[in-house]
Amino acid sequence: MDVRAWAPGRVNLIGDHTDHTGGLVLPMAIDLGTTVTGERGGGAVSLRSTSDPRPAIVSLDVDDPATVTPDWARYVAGVVAELRPAVGFEGTVLTSLPIGAGLSSSAALEVAVALALGFDGSGIELARFCQRAEQRASGVPCGIMDQLTSAVGVEGQALRIDCTSLAVDPVLLPRDIEVVVIDSGERRELANSAYADRAAACQAAQAEIGPLANATPADVDRIHDEVVRRRARHVITENQRVAAFATALAAGDRAGLRAAMAGSHASLRDDFEVSTPTLDALVGEVSEMPGVIGARLTGAGFGGCVVALVERDAPLPVSNQMWRVLASRGAHVEPPS
Ligand code: GLA
Repeated sequence: MDVRAWAPGRVNLIGDHTDHTGGLVLPMAIDLGTTVTGERGGGAVSLRSTSDPRPAIVSLDVDDPATVTPDWARYVAGVVAELRPAVGFEGTVLTSLPIGAGLSSSAALEVAVALALGFDGSGIELARFCQRAEQRASGVPCGIMDQLTSAVGVEGQALRIDCTSLAVDPVLLPRDIEVVVIDSGERRELANSAYADRAAACQAAQAEIGPLANATPADVDRIHDEVVRRRARHVITENQRVAAFATALAAGDRAGLRAAMAGSHASLRDDFEVSTPTLDALVGEVSEMPGVIGARLTGAGFGGCVVALVERDAPLPVSNQMWRVLASRGAHVEPPS
């Protein structure tokens, strides 16, 4: 076996729908991820997955990744179309991530495939490259958070990322706080078209008042369209909450963390309108459990997962599937064992 590449998924602690307008996010890479193993060679990239009986067989001159089947092969095709490797690859994909649950299974796949195919560059370059692959594969104008977190994760630390400068500042997670991801069970069927719609509203806001990353509440109040104004208000208040959350995390300030997470969920629900009744109910239920510091929906919304910060070892009596996740290091090629 020639190559073994591993890439983590991510959970976003706070700062959703801010990356595509150059705002602040605070995710961490997690200890669930995707491994691609195999050998370079041949005239196609050919991968089998333990999650789907249908293989991905992608020719090196693939033209339109979005039309490739099965669905998961699109992400492989996106990477091949960006990288144009000189030789193919034959191997296997194994993942511990739930698929399509908001933990960036697609970003982990892209980053692991890119490394397996021989991508050579910095973490930021890898992230930019895989963001383009994702956009080509899915048609969704996603931001850079998922791919960047998977590429540059740091063990034991969350990452405060400025999506304008791409400056990444690790933020230490206190030892007595655990990060728990709880699956709502709802899958994100509407996410693609709704994501594009929300991103377009943010662009409309920027056309009217300039970059949202620098906008003030008074600027947002000037926006004429009521819906666009609310979308923009989410973005600028969410940027403020990321900064407040990072400060509270460093200080172990439970009340500050709880307020930022509750504010984020309410804003995603009311102003950005990407929550669902299922997510709202789960966040409400979990937030009131003993030992829970705060909870909110995480990622794009429209289903997927809730993230909670909890006091270490606090039981969370929900019947949903959940994972107590650890902040993990970013993607890498592992030496052959
Ligand atoms: C998806 C996108 C990210 C980001 C989140 C919402 O995960 O891929 O770029 O916009 O949604 O924060």
